[in-house]
Amino acid sequence: MSTIHPNTREAATPIYDWEGYDFDTRQVHAGEYPDLNNGLRVPPIALSAGYVFDDFDDQVERFSAVPSRDGAFHGDSEATPGPIYSRQGNPTNSVAEERLASLEGGSNTVLVSSGQAAITSALLTLAQGGDHIVSTASIYGGTRILFGRSIKRFGIDVDYVWDSEDDDEWARAIRPNTKAIYAESIPNPRNDITDLRRIAEVAARYHLPLVVDNTVGSPALIRPFEHGANIVVHSTTKFLTGHGAVVGGAIVDGGNFDWEAAVAAGRAYPLLTSSPRPGVGSMVDRFGPAAYARATREAVVNDIGPALSPFSGFLLHQGLETLSVRMERHVNSSLEIASWLEQQPEVEQVDYAGLPTSPLYELAVRDYGLATNGLGARTSSVFGVKVRGGIDGARAFVNGLRVFSRMTGIGDTRSMVIHPGTSTHATFAPEINDRLGITPGLLRLSVGLESPRDLIADLRVGLDHVAVL
Ligand SMILES: Cc1ncc(COP(=O)(O)O)c(C=O)c1O
Repeated sequence: MSTIHPNTREAATPIYDWEGYDFDTRQVHAGEYPDLNNGLRVPPIALSAGYVFDDFDDQVERFSAVPSRDGAFHGDSEATPGPIYSRQGNPTNSVAEERLASLEGGSNTVLVSSGQAAITSALLTLAQGGDHIVSTASIYGGTRILFGRSIKRFGIDVDYVWDSEDDDEWARAIRPNTKAIYAESIPNPRNDITDLRRIAEVAARYHLPLVVDNTVGSPALIRPFEHGANIVVHSTTKFLTGHGAVVGGAIVDGGNFDWEAAVAAGRAYPLLTSSPRPGVGSMVDRFGPAAYARATREAVVNDIGPALSPFSGFLLHQGLETLSVRMERHVNSSLEIASWLEQQPEVEQVDYAGLPTSPLYELAVRDYGLATNGLGARTSSVFGVKVRGGIDGARAFVNGLRVFSRMTGIGDTRSMVIHPGTSTHATFAPEINDRLGITPGLLRLSVGLESPRDLIADLRVGLDHVAVL
């Protein structure tokens, strides 16, 4: 048996470079590395808070952040010093980080402990007290709460654009101290998909990075970097890990934003373009296209500390192995169920952009579909259905369901239902909810992997309860 320690730089060398392989191959293999001790085929769970230094000079070298253009936790064995502490990164998590970067087409990924931690960390790398962010209006309720409470308490203001087609509205919202544009590719809960190309054009015009939450879409359905986004965030709790067991988050760097040009145009990104101390170059100087990920890992996540447990990282890299297979089932069942719901007399409206009757169908055909087999107009499995009878109708429907679980959460193998108006959106002013289309009769469905026939039968029972009101 080899005596080489599994955490040596040699052990961290990838087996192959998976660039150029198909999505389905990369989701199984990207990020894996050989286990030189035991030849383990499945990357193991490295449950260790810290890492042994070979000797005194090795510790000095690891802490001195030897210049490298690779922002990954481990990578180029020549240039990247070994690991220090699991608050910065962990070999199990790095498998998932490299795999997700490959699937999204980004330069690097940083894993954190939840989707909310990912959004917060992603934005804190860009903005500080006194700065400003512009977001599209249709976003997950928890993110709207985060923006209006904690991000605001950090001194960062967020304004919303309601009509992303309206250049004047963008012009009115963007200020000299704006640091990012934020959007969701497939907004939770109403599936009102976003024209990312359109927003990326606005962002480029104002020299702003576009940050996209791709939780509901996943890279199997849309890869925001291909449409001009610069940073992607995920709640890995959902489709990426896939089985509803653990909470996690990810920040993916597109490596495609010109930070120096933004600074020249009057925007300031001190964590990226300023020298942290005399004699040390800026993140952009030292890490090039990996600068943003590196700054997020070292200057935000390592300081604040929302580290992901390697156990959760393991479940994530395993979950990613089957992402496109699960998404195919999720989206095909959703299309079948959404089409069926549209025909039911107790249903007033179905918000699923993949339906030919949706006003967003053309955009769904153009930009959203399964990467792996060319199935177009598939806009995930999280969508809204408005039943007759307002809140009484919603209550009767939800109480009638047996296969759908009444719970918060999306992107699980299990189907789930929740009433946004009294949960995720309960704290917003009625006029905001009206504008967002969060009506008393609206339910959010997350279609799981059960048989679509059983799911339709369950929904029919729920609607029978609405029919007798
Ligand atoms: C689109 C979206 N972003 C972010 C989050 C927050 O993720 P987490 O629950 O992992 O913190 C959620 C959670 O539902 C979400 O749906």
